[in-house]
Order: sequence, then C-alpha cells, then structure tokens
Amino acid sequence: MLKIGLIGAGFMGAMHAACYATLGIPIVAVADVREEKCAEMAQKYGCKTYTDGESLLADADVNVIDICLPTYQHTKYALMAMEKVPAVFIEKPVALTVEEGEALLKKQQETGAQVMVGQVIRLWDEYVWLKEAADSGRYGKIVTGTFKRVSPRPTWGWQGWLTDPVRSGTMALDMHIHDCDFVRALCGEPKTIKTAVSRDASGKIIHIGTAYGFGNMTIFAEGIWDYPLTFPFAMEYRVMFEKATVAAEHGTLTVYTDEGVEHPTYKREQTGTVVEGGGNISDLGAYYNELKYFTDRLKAGKPIEINTLPEAVKSLRLVLKEIEMAGGGIK
Ligand SMILES: NC(=O)c1ccc[n+]([C@@H]2O[C@H](COP(=O)([O-])OP(=O)(O)OC[C@H]3O[C@@H](n4cnc5c(N)ncnc54)[C@H](O)[C@@H]3O)[C@@H](O)[C@H]2O)c1
Repeated sequence: MLKIGLIGAGFMGAMHAACYATLGIPIVAVADVREEKCAEMAQKYGCKTYTDGESLLADADVNVIDICLPTYQHTKYALMAMEKVPAVFIEKPVALTVEEGEALLKKQQETGAQVMVGQVIRLWDEYVWLKEAADSGRYGKIVTGTFKRVSPRPTWGWQGWLTDPVRSGTMALDMHIHDCDFVRALCGEPKTIKTAVSRDASGKIIHIGTAYGFGNMTIFAEGIWDYPLTFPFAMEYRVMFEKATVAAEHGTLTVYTDEGVEHPTYKREQTGTVVEGGGNISDLGAYYNELKYFTDRLKAGKPIEINTLPEAVKSLRLVLKEIEMAGGGIK
C-alpha cells in the first residue's frame, strides 16, 4: 500500500493532498513549518504532522515522499528522501542549478529511487491532445508555433520566495520552464535557441521570449509574471501544421482548416474536486492526471516513464542556458 509523506503544504501541497485524497491514497504524514498549515492538513486528512521536513523523514511511516517546498529547498529534501523511500515526487522546477540537478541524478543512480517531477504540462489535457495530434501526423508536420504563459505578480509564496530571484530562479525557471519542457517533449531538442528578456527596476527577469530553432521551423515561447494583480493568468498555444492550425486560446481548443472550424473533444477524467484557494486552477485537472499516473505506476511496480528526473534536468539545463544567454537572472 502506498503511504504518502508530503513536505510543504502551501499552494501546491494542498493541491497534491486533494489529488491523493481523490485517488483514495492515504496521506500519512505532512510537514510544514507553518503550524496552521499542519492543523489544516490534520483536520482534513487525519494525518500525522511535523513542523519540519527532517522530522518527517526521520520518523514517519511512509513509502512515498512528495516534495512541494519552495524550489530552493527541493534538492536538500529530495536527496534525503531518495535515501529513505523507494519513490519520490518533486515539484518543478526540479532544482535551481545544473550542479543540483546532477547531484539528484547521482543519488537516483545510487539508490534506484523512482522519481517523477511535476512538469505537469505534459499531462495537461490540451497539451496531451496537441502532442497526440503531432505524433499522429494527421495535420502534417509542424510549420511554426507559439506558446504563451502570462501571470499577475506572484505575491502568494511563503515569505515572498517566488519574487526573490535567488530562491525561485526568476519567472524563467519557475514559469517559462513549463513551455520549454513541453516544446522539448513535442519537437525534441532544439538545434538553436535565441532568448530576449525584459527586467524590472531591480534588474531581475520578469518577461522572457525564446525562439527554439529546429532547422526551418521555430517555436516561440513567451512568459511574463509581473502583470497587475487583477490580470488573469493564461496559458495558451497556437501551432500551425501543414494542413491545419490548432489553438488553445481563451479556454477553447480549436482546429482551423480551409474547410472549416472544429472544437475537438479532448478532456480526460474530470474529478469534480475543487481546491479552495487553488490559485488560477480550481479543478484538480492535470495535477490529478500526473499523480494518478505516478501512483498507478508505483502500484503496478512499473517504472516512471513520463516526467522523469533525467528529462526534468534537461529542461532545467535548457532554461538555465537561456537565462545565461540573456545575461543572468539578475543584472
Ligand atoms: N506544477 C505547477 O504548475 C506548479 C504550480 C505552483 C507551484 N509549483 C511549484 O511547487 C513548489 C511549491 O510552490 P507553492 O506555490 O506551493 O509555494 P508555497 O509558498 O505556497 O508553499 C510552500 C510551503 O512550504 C512550507 N515550507 C517552507 N520551508 C519548509 C520546510 N523546510 N519544511 C516544511 N515546510 C516548509 C511553507 O510554509 C509553505 O506552506 C515550487 O517548487 C513551485 O515552483 C508548481
């Protein structure tokens, strides 16, 4: 039986806990430095709680650790978790530096731990549909494409960690990595990259645009997170194939051809579970898809093949390269 130990019960930890509960998988232990978060989790899930990750790792009777900590703490706890349990889930971005990524890969080789990373877009319905459409060849080859991820200022993180470039790696690592990772999944490794950024008054990146080159085809990805608090979060794409242009824009998936316009059916399982304070996503949606995949594979004794640690480290490396090309996260 899977027994989950969750470290970090903020925005994403609450989402993951709701997913496990919907999946009927017991959350045995939760650690959060905020006592009110521990109390909330204990009341909802009847789990044991700890006010730091180390105590959970030392004491709790769990066989899966799920790390939903601020990014700058991922590596420390993921290294310890791989020593303790056979399976670890790490939220994205997996780490902040190449060195951290390599240390995680080394530890996985030493321990044989199963690791999945929360690059959730590969399991997001509209994007799963797009990948399947591309792989099937039914619209021909991709000619060009654009991906967009726009957000208000992220004021919700614990102790302002998201807006601190040292702890979050800037919006490039925190947000744009989703599109970078998906572009790699869709088209493979880009042959060239060109990146341009805008910075705020303190010199940190708030807006990034990268052109991923694949010979004659280029995929463009734009990310920004400093819009006013009233600005609605949006993630969208428009991809032109030889025989159709497909767009997931304004909450609608559309296929445009010379003959007409279609709205394909693409939604997978709907959980109906709504997470209070769930930020821009209230339904469990793709988080449920990814944790269902993770736990189904573990239950079946099968290896994790989607959002593996090596794949996540490749996306980390690519975004770090983009940041370096642009002159660094802070200037
Ligand atoms: N996959 C996605 O779409 C997605 C979306 C949002 C966030 N994330 C990622 O999830 C991770 C967490 O982000 P978040 O938005 O939940 O942040 P958050 O600030 O809402 O939550 C982090 C929690 O960790 C707790 N914490 C901090 N240090 C701790 C420690 N040492 N031990 C125990 N608890 C500790 C804090 O009290 C807080 O409750 C980040 O890596 C972020 O990038 C992923």
